Amino acid sequence: MRIPFLILTILVLSLQCKASVASPLVRDKETNILFYFHNIHADKDSSSVLVAQNANATAHARGIVAFSSVYVFDNVITEGPSITSKVLGNAQGMYVGTAKDGYTILMAIDVEITTGPFNGSSFVLFSRNPLRSTRELPVIGGRGAFRMAEGYGMLRTVCVHCLNSVNPASGDVIEYNVTLWHH
Ligand SMILES: *[C@@H]1O[C@H](CO)[C@@H](O)[C@H](O)[C@H]1NC(C)=O
Ligand SMILES: *[C@@H]1O[C@H](CO)[C@@H](O)[C@H](O)[C@H]1NC(C)=O
Ligand SMILES: *[C@@H]1O[C@H](CO)[C@@H](O)[C@H](O)[C@H]1NC(C)=O
Repeated sequence: MRIPFLILTILVLSLQCKASVASPLVRDKETNILFYFHNIHADKDSSSVLVAQNANATAHARGIVAFSSVYVFDNVITEGPSITSKVLGNAQGMYVGTAKDGYTILMAIDVEITTGPFNGSSFVLFSRNPLRSTRELPVIGGRGAFRMAEGYGMLRTVCVHCLNSVNPASGDVIEYNVTLWHH
């Protein structure tokens, strides 16, 4: 069968066009970022605050985060579990008590890196976070070097309602081990 020359030319040109535009789906770099999230509840200068809760739900409050409560945070992230270790950036977002037993939260976190080669870039983790089991949060995107990123974070509780020696405030320290695929 003879394909008319014009159609063949159009076909070849459109294929070339497609090939010359870098596909946003190609994520050929893999980056692993390990950090510690400091969720501080203090009398003054908390980095995590309760902003709302339903009166009826909290009358039966159970677990760690009462059903219906909404927290907003601007937490420092560090290289090691101690708050005096090197600051890598900050994690801003919110979490909501979404389980009636008080052991699952829904989290939305934007993690901005403020040092090193990824300075100024951020990535976003979002999903339910079951506080008592394997905690894996999906990476749903990012900015800068992490534009269109995909990945996941594995979470491990270092301590809940713990004191730290520098800022004698109650807080939670959570380890985040995040693997990202990006351009
Ligand atoms: C709590 O429950 C009562 C009785 O069912 C209802 O009238 C009230 O609106 C509820 N309050 C909230 C904040 O949902
Ligand atoms: C990170 O980027 C900001 C804004 O460009 C700049 O002011 C700051 O010095 C950088 N920090 C490091 C550690 O490179
Ligand atoms: C973090 O995750 C990477 C990739 O899965 C793994 O190789 C590394 O051992 C983990 N680090 C910690 C401290 O769990």
